[in-house]
Amino acid sequence: MSPFRLTRTLPKDATEAALRADVLHGLTCSPKTLPPKWFYDARGSELFDKITELPEYYPTRAEREILAARAPEIARATGARTLVELGSGSSEKTRHLLDALPGLHTYVPVDVSESALTQAGHPLIAERPHLNIHALVADFTAPLLLPRTPGPRLLAFLGGTIGNLLPAERAAFLTSVRALLSPGDALLLGTDLVKDESVLVAAYDDAAGVTAEFDKNVLTVVNRELGADFDLRAFEHVALWDAEHEWIEMRLRSRTEQTVKIPALDLAVDFAAGEDLRTEISAKFRKQGVRSELATAGFDLTRWFTSPGQQYGLALAIPARTTAARSPDFARITACVR
Ligand code: SAH
Ligand code: TRP
Repeated sequence: MSPFRLTRTLPKDATEAALRADVLHGLTCSPKTLPPKWFYDARGSELFDKITELPEYYPTRAEREILAARAPEIARATGARTLVELGSGSSEKTRHLLDALPGLHTYVPVDVSESALTQAGHPLIAERPHLNIHALVADFTAPLLLPRTPGPRLLAFLGGTIGNLLPAERAAFLTSVRALLSPGDALLLGTDLVKDESVLVAAYDDAAGVTAEFDKNVLTVVNRELGADFDLRAFEHVALWDAEHEWIEMRLRSRTEQTVKIPALDLAVDFAAGEDLRTEISAKFRKQGVRSELATAGFDLTRWFTSPGQQYGLALAIPARTTAARSPDFARITACVR
């Protein structure tokens, strides 16, 4: 048996307090919003895995195709001994990297979903008896503490999940990722690319309704955790292409005028008929934009792989020689847990 450790960096009461704060803020501001990480309870992770198998949802297949073809090249370029993966989910595509890295010592999957981490971990342990796995239940938008493991490190952020952050959040995120890496380490970043609107919208509003169910799962989470009385049938899932920002926007549209009660917050939230609750964006990228966002955060783009038809891009980047001045916060984020 290979060593499997799981560290919870998110105590239950802190998670509850964060959910309360996010729901209170998001549902009392205009337009109403909720942050995407709350989609991913056990049911949400299961629904996302179903999304990855839908005929309309091409990003998973496109990224897997790139990884299958390029993992040996990525392995040679990085020589990674530690693979850290943020938002690892099922770790399904990651197998290509795990198999290609001959000197890999430790795999560190990081996810808010503990159920996704344990379910992904079990088969990995069975198949790779010599690999150390140190799973972290953590929020990658908060300061991250990584276990002390041998370098070089390869930090992977796949699935186009970077697109679920707003531009300013992306910049802060990439800067803190840069602070986790040293010379000789690398970043592997999956980005979904701008393409025909009909293809994009279908990927986020599938015919079988799985994405709609996934989107509404966030309401189920708020009902369960905060005792709210959201009626899921009273909301409609909507996916819109915002051509100016080049992102898909997911919304839950209130079918009627209604009031939702959230006892844990002592809050009643009014929805007008047709009013939208914004649940998530999924930004789509172009190579030049990826290069410049990476450069701003202190990375050089060294390799750019695309899937057939330019559907999806995978960027390999390394810490730039000259880096921006470091803020005092960085000392804290580079500290290590043991
Ligand atoms: N990498 C996988 C899963 C992508 S879905 C793939 O490519 O298929 C996004 C994943 O990120 C989910 O597993 C979700 O639980 C996780 N996630 C979302 N927000 C997060 C956050 N703030 N911190 C940590 N993990 C997060
Ligand atoms: N990271 C995924 C993406 O942007 C997340 C995702 C896929 C998603 N389908 C969704 C989020 C539907 C909300 C609703 O592609």
